[in-house]
Amino acid sequence: MEKNDDNYKVIRQQAIEFVKNHCILYGYIEMHCLIDAIRNMDISELYVVELAREVFDELGLIPGEYNIYEKFSNVVDSIHGLDNKNIIEIGGGRFPRLAKRIRLKQKNGSITVYDPNLHVEFDSKRFKLRRRRANAYTDVNNCDLIIGLMPCKGAETLLDLALKNRKDFVLWLCEGGPHGDEFDFFEGEDEWKNYMIDRAKSGVEANGMGKLKVKTINEFSDKYPIIYNER
Ligand SMILES: C[S@@+](CC[C@H](N)C(=O)[O-])C[C@H]1O[C@@H](n2cnc3c(N)ncnc32)[C@H](O)[C@@H]1O
Repeated sequence: MEKNDDNYKVIRQQAIEFVKNHCILYGYIEMHCLIDAIRNMDISELYVVELAREVFDELGLIPGEYNIYEKFSNVVDSIHGLDNKNIIEIGGGRFPRLAKRIRLKQKNGSITVYDPNLHVEFDSKRFKLRRRRANAYTDVNNCDLIIGLMPCKGAETLLDLALKNRKDFVLWLCEGGPHGDEFDFFEGEDEWKNYMIDRAKSGVEANGMGKLKVKTINEFSDKYPIIYNER
């Protein structure tokens, strides 16, 4: 669907209304950047801005072939399986679209999301939303699998938790490292990405978690790979 397609104009307007109705969740500048992104992108590009893709998916407006949440849930399923797993997701976003999808696909098991940006806290036996950061002390004892879809700096926490506790993991990297954090010492995205891959590879092997695999999803991004362990 192109930017000027009439149907897409209607969909876009719905998304903009949704954002305005939830303005409390966004800062002033963030909300205007988000509306601008929605106005200027065609639907196949929406995956680029996570705030926009969350909104469109919350409204059920992203067709399967453009849906990064659908894609990643299928990838995780094909690698480690979703059913009967207690899963932790780090960096689920404001509207935890990936976790909701996974919850619907699981017949048994649970999913717990950590993100300080979550729009709400929620607690049920099989679906939990924790509005806080995951850190080195986050309890992962009862979990079988740790996942993250482009969780920015949360990628480092995810990897630390998975390796320290020998938990299976699937992590879709993004440009998360060099975000201007004063403690970052990386020159740029590539350096951070390579560091994460090297660190994951040696950690997986040293901890007897099998081998590190690296997968690229061309439809969405060939720049940032998915990394996971395979036992
Ligand atoms: C680029 S967004 C991705 C959101 C969502 N996964 C998506 O793809 O639509 C990154 C998210 O990671 C979260 N995050 C970063 N570090 C985190 C941590 N240590 N624990 C939990 N969430 C974290 C941020 O708050 C942000 O919402």
